[in-house]
Amino acid sequence: MSWGLKNRLARILNSQTGRTVMLAVDHGYFQGPTTGLENPRRTLEPLIPYADSLMLTRGVLRTSVSDDIRVPIVLRVSGGTSILKELSNEGVTTSVEEAIRLNASAVAVSIFVGGEFERQTLLNLSRLVDEGERYGMPVLAVTAVGREMNRDARYLGLATRIAAELGAHIVKTYYCEGFSKVVDGCPVPLVIAGGKKIPEEDALRLAYNAISEGAVGVDMGRNIFQSDSPVGMIKAVRAIVHEEASVDAAFKLYSESRKVMHVERTVASAESAE
Ligand code: R5P
Repeated sequence: MSWGLKNRLARILNSQTGRTVMLAVDHGYFQGPTTGLENPRRTLEPLIPYADSLMLTRGVLRTSVSDDIRVPIVLRVSGGTSILKELSNEGVTTSVEEAIRLNASAVAVSIFVGGEFERQTLLNLSRLVDEGERYGMPVLAVTAVGREMNRDARYLGLATRIAAELGAHIVKTYYCEGFSKVVDGCPVPLVIAGGKKIPEEDALRLAYNAISEGAVGVDMGRNIFQSDSPVGMIKAVRAIVHEEASVDAAFKLYSESRKVMHVERTVASAESAE
């Protein structure tokens, strides 16, 4: 691994805790204006100060993120399909050269193990790893789960191990029962996605369990930006990932932040009515 590649990885994984809170806001690349992300700039602005990195496409980066931010970018570089078609039919949409031009700290590519286009997506990953090694650019493999796949330890263990074997530097997967087995079988750092929006306390428990069982962090989207207090939620997730906070303590942090947000909104709407 070159110095440049290691340095980029170190930007993503916090040097003190070795962990990371990645904010995933790349959903539009296949599902369009996702709830909570209709206006990416508006969603992102209050959250950026709390994210260790942002995972997004070049389109959202260019249009909706100010060019003076210091948060590392994990650039989504696979796509080419939509929710209206077979999701696994992805290609590489953005070159490593463009990722370098955009000052990305890593590139992200989905693999669909068991999907119709499994081979194509595994070769996308392999090609990006080859290029990434050439230019010092880490590759995050996203183990995307097709509609027909079970998110269990056996399947996720298979997908994450294949990603690591093909050379991914970080792997993103889902939390599941028996998650520590998935971690054991994957020789590179694992982060978990949050998945569909669930109650805040449950999402915090998911993060807590994943970290306790060996994930180095989260790459979470909907359970943050679709929360009734996105800032409260990202602060709570940070407390779990970086400060070993309990689920109760993190939930309290979220609830307090939510209360403050409501008071601020009430005051602002009273002032505008005057
Ligand atoms: C999905 O393919 C995207 O890569 C998302 O970044 C990923 O699913 C994580 O977001 P969420 O926490 O909303 O599942």
